[in-house]
Amino acid sequence: MRNRFVIGNWKLNGELDANAVLLADLNQKVNRESGKFCAVCVPFVYLAQTQNVLGKSNIGWGAQDISRYVAGAYTGEVSAKMVSEFGCRYAIVGHSERRAMLGDTDAVVAEKFGNAKKAVLTPVLCVGETLDERVAGNTENVVMRQLHAVIETHGVAGLSGAILAYEPVWAIGTGKTATPQEAEAVHAFLRAEIARLDVEIAAAMPILYGGSVKKANAKELFAMSNIDGGLIGGASLVAEEFLGIWQAL
Ligand code: PGA
Repeated sequence: MRNRFVIGNWKLNGELDANAVLLADLNQKVNRESGKFCAVCVPFVYLAQTQNVLGKSNIGWGAQDISRYVAGAYTGEVSAKMVSEFGCRYAIVGHSERRAMLGDTDAVVAEKFGNAKKAVLTPVLCVGETLDERVAGNTENVVMRQLHAVIETHGVAGLSGAILAYEPVWAIGTGKTATPQEAEAVHAFLRAEIARLDVEIAAAMPILYGGSVKKANAKELFAMSNIDGGLIGGASLVAEEFLGIWQAL
């Protein structure tokens, strides 16, 4: 059995008072279940608050990004080691919003992936195609390119212990979810692609789906054999929605 995950991605959202309410609610209601993991990835400035509230809970936490650099004269950057000092277990790398708007090329994503692993964080590597790429029939080429950029740098063994997230760009924040069958097809493709290089790593690799997951559609997505949970944006900001998704896992 593969480990299963529901991971929230707060993006550029949050404020101390509202975070306190949301985190306390999750802390109270997320039960411990073997093989299932719940986590929230919060803005850097809220990591200390998150650690304070969730420190002894069943919920993990992480960063939404980390620097491609380790230390030095890089004003405004935050390193993998720094976030690990705040108890982070996870770091999202290669989110499509960063790839599209914030300069994360495949090569940069591979560097960030490596930095996460060196700091003993679990990288959550995001891949996914835009609508134009899907319409042009390029979904598999795009996710393969994004995946292989990491494999070329770190070897297939580098994927061991990481999490992969398939997030079609056209489904993120749009309310338009991939059907369970559409998502499953890409998940199965990604797993087969990894299995060509290492069957055991492929079998153990959690592959999460992200893109307008809500409590109303989570169960049918999570029922697919290659979908091992979800990376949740908008719905992770509403306790009742996020808890509903957790319960669907
Ligand atoms: P969404 O975002 O759930 O708001 O579509 C998912 C993500 O970007 O990780």
